[in-house]
Amino acid sequence: MTDQIQLIAPDDWHVHLRDGEMLTQVVAHTARMFRRAIVMPNLRPPVVTVEAAKAYRERIVAACGPSSAFTPLMTAYLTDDIAPDEIERGFLEGVFTAAKLYPANATTNSAAGVTNLRHIHSVLLAMERIGMPLLIHGEVTDVDVDVFDREAVFIERSLKSIRERYPDLKVVLEHITTEQAVDFVGSADRNLAATITPHHLHINRNAMFAGGLRSDFFCLPVAKRERHRLALRRAAMSGDKRFFLGTDSAPHARPGKETSCGCAGIFNAPHALESYALAFSQDDKLDRLEAFASLHGPAFYGLPVNEGVVTLQREDELVPDVVNGLVPFHAGETLPWRLQPCT
Ligand code: NCD
Ligand code: ZN
Repeated sequence: MTDQIQLIAPDDWHVHLRDGEMLTQVVAHTARMFRRAIVMPNLRPPVVTVEAAKAYRERIVAACGPSSAFTPLMTAYLTDDIAPDEIERGFLEGVFTAAKLYPANATTNSAAGVTNLRHIHSVLLAMERIGMPLLIHGEVTDVDVDVFDREAVFIERSLKSIRERYPDLKVVLEHITTEQAVDFVGSADRNLAATITPHHLHINRNAMFAGGLRSDFFCLPVAKRERHRLALRRAAMSGDKRFFLGTDSAPHARPGKETSCGCAGIFNAPHALESYALAFSQDDKLDRLEAFASLHGPAFYGLPVNEGVVTLQREDELVPDVVNGLVPFHAGETLPWRLQPCT
């Protein structure tokens, strides 16, 4: 049995770092194990200008401290009336790495998102022209569509037409949760990839209802049936370069989780890499972890692979019930991998 594995220093291609006090509480967990992260822009107010993204980037860097090697990669939040020039300028100036499409009201802080794709037609044309990736929260919001079908319906109603209309646009379907997404992304010839979270590799929808209503396992897109979880595991561990790591760590303060209408989001940053390592080792695919965590993402984004390595040691580690006042994913469980810091 392998007792230690070394990986080229990995990146997190989808994370919520929040702002203010929450930022200072959570960012060190991400910076401990990842060299770069794609930082989601769904703040209040959302990050819609180059100036706002620059200022947010500075706050993240300041919160990491001067000795940190962590680089935040910023994203723009697309709205119905966002100007193509602002998106293009931000990308060309190296401030925006990508832009995020939230269908309006699909998830946390998405009320200012896009109500109809036709409103961002000229933005998508500009992004296609300059090679700027579009990151998609792929769920429809129609109330008559079953919550568990929203991703599959989004692929049919929206993603297929985005791919047809903008064939040169680089698209990442974020935090996929269904075998339909695995099949659609896995059959794309180019310019389409997907991120996969650690929690969707470990839980199916039963986790939300085990012994009562468990809001710590509620996130969006919501976890689906077991057959979808197994499809995600196969995709993540397939070696297929279209699938890569994105934790979607999404912390919410306790009052937001412990209420009659709880927030969506799972805080997995404290043990994200250990969680992925557990899944890959359970399926005897540890040899595929490095490509998923450290190689496929940079290749898709056209960025260099990181220098340096991280080491995972086979050693039991108890995940605390609470970290910085937040309940982490795997709370109270013992994980068999312990991460040594980046070198
Ligand atoms: C995210 C959040 O809280 O910002 N929540 C979640 O359940 N994943 C938003 C998102 O990525 O959908
Ligand atoms: Zn997210």
